[in-house]
Amino acid sequence: MPTILVTGGAGFIGSHTCVCLLEAGYDIVVADNFSNSKPEALNRIKKITGKDFKFYECDLLDLEAVKKIFAENSIDAVIHFAGYKAVGESVAQPVKYYHNNITGTLMLIKAMQEYGCKKIVFSSSATVYGPVNPVPYVEDMPTSATNPYGYTKVMIEQILRDVYVSDSDWSVSLLRYFNPIGAHPSGLIGEDPNGIPNNLLPYICQVAVGKLEKLGVFGNDYDTPDGTGIRDYIHVCDLADGHLCAVKYVLEHKGVEAVNLGTGKGSSVFDVLHSFEKACGKELPYVVKPRRPGDLPSSYANTDKAKKVFGWEAKYDLDQMTADSWNFIKNNPNGL
Ligand code: UD1
Repeated sequence: MPTILVTGGAGFIGSHTCVCLLEAGYDIVVADNFSNSKPEALNRIKKITGKDFKFYECDLLDLEAVKKIFAENSIDAVIHFAGYKAVGESVAQPVKYYHNNITGTLMLIKAMQEYGCKKIVFSSSATVYGPVNPVPYVEDMPTSATNPYGYTKVMIEQILRDVYVSDSDWSVSLLRYFNPIGAHPSGLIGEDPNGIPNNLLPYICQVAVGKLEKLGVFGNDYDTPDGTGIRDYIHVCDLADGHLCAVKYVLEHKGVEAVNLGTGKGSSVFDVLHSFEKACGKELPYVVKPRRPGDLPSSYANTDKAKKVFGWEAKYDLDQMTADSWNFIKNNPNGL
């Protein structure tokens, strides 16, 4: 079976994808610098799968360290998750974001070029659809962004397209994630952010375990059915499965494909909150706050391309997602 290098493999989506890859019989090599993840995630991956793998505590900015991974392993393809992802922090510290996300990716590409590995699956984001495109988002819409985090995704997509233009042996899959939530059904791995969460589900989880007092709902006056923001939440296990399809695809095809990974279905903040309340069996306090700057009323995917190109579609519904998120946080109230 091919060997896949997973950068950021200890993170939320990375750890679930490692489980999927190992269960599908791939060999994996994981690289992570634990900037926003914990070593325990790696133990949990081993516990779930009963399989071992090589790990490098490595910062992608360190080109020699990245090259060493390729020198010591025969890597067939890379899934590149490693990167900073907090929107607000990226506005406050743009240089940190551009340097880490862009330069880190450039170092990875350099090492790949040197060792003749030309297959990559990249963690992009629905954020590249920017503020102007109408929903549902289709892959051939023009891309843009509203903050440095989003621009790093737009720019890295462009860099990988340009690498392909320069060398048509490359195979690039740009996966545009919608809103990943949920956790592995074992409750052993899940989302474990540092500090006070920015994103909706981790915040609700902290309220549910009594660590935060109440959810702030960012605006109830949007032009949506209940006035709150609509997003396309997707179970992280579905997302991980999408990466498996993308890896198979890049191993067998050349070229560049941007593909949405979403369910195609929008849910409001209140839909998510009420679904979570069902899962945990208690009412969760909330207060309506002003809109969060930069938030869009609605974001959801057109999922036709993922079906057509990968033969993939999401299987889990919102209640399953919130049940699995609750299961993880209940078992790990203090994270990993
Ligand atoms: C956010 C980022 C996006 C990034 C994605 C994944 C912003 C503006 N966008 O997406 O670029 O790709 O995370 O990391 O940060 N909400 C509340 N209360 C909260 C938190 C969120 O009401 O405490 C609402 C938001 O207004 C939104 C929905 O919940 O309507 C989802 O928010 P969130 O989980 O932060 O995801 P996005 O904003 O979609």
